[in-house]
Amino acid sequence: MSNNLYIDLLKKVLIDYHRMEMGETPPIKRNKGHKPRYMLLYMLENILKNSDFTIREKVPYNKEKRLTGRDWPAYADSMVGLKRMENIEFCVNDTIKNNIPGDLIETGVWRGGSVIFMRALLKVAGITDKIVWVADSFEGLPKPDEDKYDADKGDDHYTHSNVLAISEDQVKYNFEKYGLLDEQVKFLKGWFKDTLPTAPIEKLSVLRLDGDMYESTINALDNLYAKLSVGGYCIVDDFGAVPACKMAIMDYRKQHNITEDIIDIDGFGAYWKKLN
Ligand SMILES: C[S@@+](CC[C@H](N)C(=O)[O-])C[C@H]1O[C@@H](n2cnc3c(N)ncnc32)[C@H](O)[C@@H]1O
Repeated sequence: MSNNLYIDLLKKVLIDYHRMEMGETPPIKRNKGHKPRYMLLYMLENILKNSDFTIREKVPYNKEKRLTGRDWPAYADSMVGLKRMENIEFCVNDTIKNNIPGDLIETGVWRGGSVIFMRALLKVAGITDKIVWVADSFEGLPKPDEDKYDADKGDDHYTHSNVLAISEDQVKYNFEKYGLLDEQVKFLKGWFKDTLPTAPIEKLSVLRLDGDMYESTINALDNLYAKLSVGGYCIVDDFGAVPACKMAIMDYRKQHNITEDIIDIDGFGAYWKKLN
């Protein structure tokens, strides 16, 4: 099989673009009058509403949603959708083509699909001197530190750990499934505020942020953006999706006088190339 065919197939497999599995709606707050598709689940959710987990609606596979990462796939290894997968492919290949020094990292990996894809792209290009860093708590998102980060007030991602907490062993197993777990994959387990300041990373060529919250985004930028090489890419998965994430990006860019154009990927994800 040609490398192009392998990469094309892999990115679709990683998001279950081909399998037509059920998706789930992200646990967004419902408006009054919203009619859930599955009444029984809705009733169950109401019964359980005082507990710390929420049942989301199961929704039938929708190709358009999977293209732009608008659902939470039930089984796929990544929720980013095809367009953001293609953006990863573009950024990684561009940095390889232009000999941009540095490793690759994703801060916030969930089941690992995006970092698995990064490792595959390096392998296909025959790159042996770059590491793919896999940074996650492996226990979901943190409870908001509301005193420190006003923008995270009321953020309830941490209550969805039944879906968002994927163990390190599970992510390693997911790499293994594709034959891509090796010494070029390194794990940074823990909260970003604890792991990123001392992470043994010298330089980065691709910095992919997918931690959703203000705290998670600003922690990654504060500790890693200075390590991003000129010619490298900063990708923000939730720029158009989570206002607090966008705010962290805009605050950091303002503080550090970053003026490169932010390029939209699919209405949610966005990225820029570091020019100086
Ligand atoms: C939306 S998911 C990532 C999706 C993933 N990039 C993909 O390809 O499907 C967010 C992830 O970020 C992690 N996370 C968010 N904030 C974090 C923090 N402050 N420290 C450690 N992990 C964090 C969560 O555990 C979760 O795995």
